[in-house]
Order: sequence, then C-alpha cells, then structure tokens
Amino acid sequence: MKNILVVGSAGQIGSELTLALRDIYGGDNVVAGVRKTKPSEKLSGTGPCEVVDALDKNNLKKVVDKYKIDVIINMAAILSGTGEKNPMLAWDVNMNGLINILELAREYKMKQVLVPSSIAVFGPTTPVDNTPQETILKPTTIYGVTKVAGELLGDYYVKKYGLDVRGLRYPGIISHETEPGGGTTDYAVAIYYEAIKNKKYTCFVNENTRLPMMYMPDCLKATIDLMQADFSSLKNHCDYNVGAMDFTVAEMAESIKKHIPEFEISYEPDFRQEIADSWPNSVDDSPARKDWGWQHDFDLDKMTADMLKAIGEKHEKGLI
Ligand code: SER
Repeated sequence: MKNILVVGSAGQIGSELTLALRDIYGGDNVVAGVRKTKPSEKLSGTGPCEVVDALDKNNLKKVVDKYKIDVIINMAAILSGTGEKNPMLAWDVNMNGLINILELAREYKMKQVLVPSSIAVFGPTTPVDNTPQETILKPTTIYGVTKVAGELLGDYYVKKYGLDVRGLRYPGIISHETEPGGGTTDYAVAIYYEAIKNKKYTCFVNENTRLPMMYMPDCLKATIDLMQADFSSLKNHCDYNVGAMDFTVAEMAESIKKHIPEFEISYEPDFRQEIADSWPNSVDDSPARKDWGWQHDFDLDKMTADMLKAIGEKHEKGLI
C-alpha cells in the first residue's frame, strides 16, 4: 500500500496528477498538499487536503506522520518567468523545499520521491535539435539552475542513501483544467483560452519560437509510468528527457484556424523570448522509451481539437 503526498497539488500539473493518482490508489491514499490556493471542489471532494508548505519542515513532518506518507511528489516550484523576477524566491522554494522533502524521505526511509525536472536545464550552448539525454547543462535562468541542481541532488540521494528518487524533464505542458502560472511556455495554453474568448491572441514570444511540448494526458501518463517502473530498469534517475511534439507559435495558430478560421495572432515578444531561445527545439527521449516504455499519444492537431472543445465548454458555462 502506498500513501502518497502531492506537494503543490493546486498547480497546473499537481491538480490533475492528484486526481489521476486517486483513481489508481484510492482517494484516501493520496493527500493533496496545497499552500495558499484554496483547493478546487474536485480536489477537496475526492480525498484529504492539507495545507503544506515545503519550506516548513515541521509542517511537512506533521502531514507525513498523520497520513503515514511513504511517497512524496514535489510539484511545488517557481517557474522560469517568475524566477527571473525574483531569483532568490525561486532558489528558496525550488532548492530548500526540495531539500526538506529529500531529508524527510531519507529520515522516514520512504518508498519513493518524485521530483520533476524541465527542459529549462538546457541552455544556449546545448544542441537545440533532438537534444540528447546526456549533454551540456548550462542554463541561463535561475529556474534552470535550480532544476539542474535538483536533478544532481536527487541522483546524490539515490547513490548516497539508496533512496528511490525519480524525475523527468517536462517540456511545456498544455492543459485546460488549471491554468499554468509564471512559466515561459504559458503562451501555449493562453493561446487556446484567447482563441475561444476573443478570437485573437498577442503572444509574448515570436512566431518562429519552437519548443518541445506535451499535452496533459501524456504528462500524466509519463509521470505515472515512471513512478511505476521497476527501479532496476532505470539507468537514469532524476533526469529523463520526455518528448511528445514540437511546434512554432505560427504552427499553433494554423492548427487553431482549422477550427476558428477568423482567429488572429500578433506578437509582442518580452523578456521571455530570450528564455525560450535558450531552450531546445526538440528532445531525444529514447532512453525513457527504452528503460520504462514511454510513448506519447497526442500530436498538435489532436491536442488542439481537444483543448478547444474543453475550453469552449467552459466558456459556454460561463466559467471563463
Ligand atoms: N513550463 C516551464 C516554464 O516555462 C518549463 O518547465 O518555466
């Protein structure tokens, strides 16, 4: 039996991952850890919710004791855009929060810790196309710096203490349940909301910006498949590249126009352009495919159809 705590449960990925894990392991066995944001009815109605601040180790410990937690998933992070506005906050949350979780997992001899990483570990000197698993990691954002350090720290706990720590480098994640906040890839979500609401969107990166992306159902599958993989099959631990699709903003706009022909896009690049330009166009995820059978389902057009349908329904109901 597993008792799982998801730290950062109210966030874009955490909110959906918590529900997916509750479907598998039972509502009572998956605790939603939220910091400030009030949990949605879906979260609070399907299992326990607790206020969890990864920076407060005593608070974490109380929740771990109360629910006999033996698996922690750390979804709490300050992303690339917000990180550049407040680098020390990003360092504090992303590093000290992680250290608290790893230390607690070590002290309690937990079964597993999952710590996601990101394409933000790469930088301007990394090969941009089909970026290999093993390559140059010299990011130029504080978010990327904390993600590289997090990968290394997780690997260190595997080697030094025999703790089962796992992680994957998420590309930009696109979803319609909970909106992302503070990331560079947020435009790839906002474009769909604006297409439904206003039939136009002004993008903060230029039309030729190409980044690796993934639709939420694939993100959930990748995360859960990695969690469930046999430890002995993992040649890497905290840094698996996972890819699904890559496209430019102009290509996204074309995909949307197949459903909303009058959709218009314009471009006003801001400081996030430089961040996007420092990340790869696409990643080579063959080690993930080989070691734990990673496979994606969604391409751009399939995702666009699904996103527009779901956001369209929210709009009709007056929810957005
Ligand atoms: N989505 C993240 C960001 O844009 C990348 O992992 O910051």
